[in-house]
Amino acid sequence: MLKDAITNISVKLLYGVYFEKDVITRAAVFCNDSEETVQLERLMSASIDFMTGDYDLIGLFGHHYFERQTDRRHLSHGINELGSFRGVSGHFHNPFAILCDRNTDEDHGNAYGFALMYSGNFIFQAEVDGYSQTRVAMGIHPKQFRFTIHPGECFEAPEVVMAYSDSGLSGLSHSYHRIFRENACDSPFVNCKRSIVINSWEPFHFTFDSEKLLETALLSKELGADMFVLDDGWFGARDNEKAGLGDWVVNEKKLPGGLQAFSKKLHDIGMQFGLWFEPEMVNEDSDLYRAHPDWCLQVPGRAPARSRHQLCLDLSRPDVCDYIISAVNAVLDEGGIDYVKWDYNRYVCDVYSRYYPADQQGEIYHRYILGLYRILDGIVKTHPDILFEGCSGGGGRFDGAMLTYFPQIWCSDNTDAPSRLVIHYGTSFAYPVSAIGAHVSACPNKKTGRTVPWKTRAVTAMHGTFGYELDPAKMTGEERNECALYSECYRRHQDLIRTGDYYRLSSPYDNSIFTAWQFVSPDSSESLVCVVTQDISILDKNSYVHLRGLSEDAFYEVEQTGQVLSGAALANIGLLLPSTQPQYSAFIYYLKKQ
Ligand code: DGJ
Repeated sequence: MLKDAITNISVKLLYGVYFEKDVITRAAVFCNDSEETVQLERLMSASIDFMTGDYDLIGLFGHHYFERQTDRRHLSHGINELGSFRGVSGHFHNPFAILCDRNTDEDHGNAYGFALMYSGNFIFQAEVDGYSQTRVAMGIHPKQFRFTIHPGECFEAPEVVMAYSDSGLSGLSHSYHRIFRENACDSPFVNCKRSIVINSWEPFHFTFDSEKLLETALLSKELGADMFVLDDGWFGARDNEKAGLGDWVVNEKKLPGGLQAFSKKLHDIGMQFGLWFEPEMVNEDSDLYRAHPDWCLQVPGRAPARSRHQLCLDLSRPDVCDYIISAVNAVLDEGGIDYVKWDYNRYVCDVYSRYYPADQQGEIYHRYILGLYRILDGIVKTHPDILFEGCSGGGGRFDGAMLTYFPQIWCSDNTDAPSRLVIHYGTSFAYPVSAIGAHVSACPNKKTGRTVPWKTRAVTAMHGTFGYELDPAKMTGEERNECALYSECYRRHQDLIRTGDYYRLSSPYDNSIFTAWQFVSPDSSESLVCVVTQDISILDKNSYVHLRGLSEDAFYEVEQTGQVLSGAALANIGLLLPSTQPQYSAFIYYLKKQ
């Protein structure tokens, strides 16, 4: 504990040590034991000093459809900074950073990771001083942050999960994957096989009726799906983006008999039922807004900034949180729902709460996040039998704190396989594959217009919790056969994908020929290797994929080729890829120790 003897103000530093995972967590608690009220303007969760400044900084940046691209740069003198000031951890910068030696690669060198367990505004700073020493600080972004702490009150800054690897970036990722999966995530589903879902959004958007949905569910069951997820559009007057958000009452014109009747029909054909919500938002054209116009964040007297025609509910207000908990629970408590997709589709701005006085407006960004966690406690934790998946305009809120509630998070609205290769690659530095929502969608892809083979889309979607975003009624016979085949393939290998040690075998930025990744079972007796070719230059030369994580002196049979090769040969020489393959071909190899 650090105490100021004159004012009686103290800061407690809280540490957690996960020895076997090479992880230390650090949080800070500010306590005002003085006689006076204090305005807290900045409290970093962690501040760590390094003796040199000779590091690279790796961060994850991006935008909607282009999440978690990797950016590696040399630290320079002065402050090197990453952060989000959008009220949410965000598409633009992720609350995760790596400092590493200049020559650190996947297998060699020192790497230090920092992940903030927080879903709101954050800052990461690495300051290289005049002596070329580095000070890292990470915590809630101090911009527009001003918290009133009365005598006797405390303020808790969120935890930073810090990991260290002396064997490169793979080792660091393994520590994060384990700590998020084994220690952070509270969901009972984290260790379970996940259902293969078919989601209604990409094929139907807001235009559907229950007959069409049931036909889709039935067809997709034949193709291997276990769960039908009804996305946006099932409630209130939600026929487009402009109306209905906030009114969590089923639209019986689309679903006669309501959710229960629809769920029963799905369950009768052996399909589970998933449902979409966006509980933190409201359209002005909604019954909720008409009844409570003061329930959204809005600067009085000014026109609000709208994004996707919606406003953010004011989650700093206890009455708004109570309403959301009871409105969503009213739907879930009726039963019949096996999965919820929790969406969040705009950033927070116009940060003014009519519930708090003017001098407390600097608390609203943080109070929003505290309100969000209270809501999630009141909904997610009270429904342990429902699998919750996080989402935010794709993967705009992919952070450690969200993973404590959601064992899986929709990774991106970009379902184009080549784009996903890069998004999955970046995401994997911090977050486990078991948490990455990845689906096969129709071609030409709605976002990029690109057409790639079915197998490539399927292999790419196996980098996560597998599913579909398409209309099976529009598939050809050949596509149906492939679809059924790869549903089965995922089902067979999903334990390995979910719990195996994950290796990035190549970088989509550096290797123009292929992108490859590998899962290895904890006892290294099995492995799955996935490869997607990037470039037709594979036609011209022999390309080998060097495997990792296998026992060097053991022999492995490669199921697809019948070869038996030693772990050492697979690591040092590699698996030879077939030649004469067009761009965006995919290969999958299953290896079993002899
Ligand atoms: C954004 C999500 O990322 C999509 O998957 C879909 O659920 C839409 N929102 C629905 O509005």
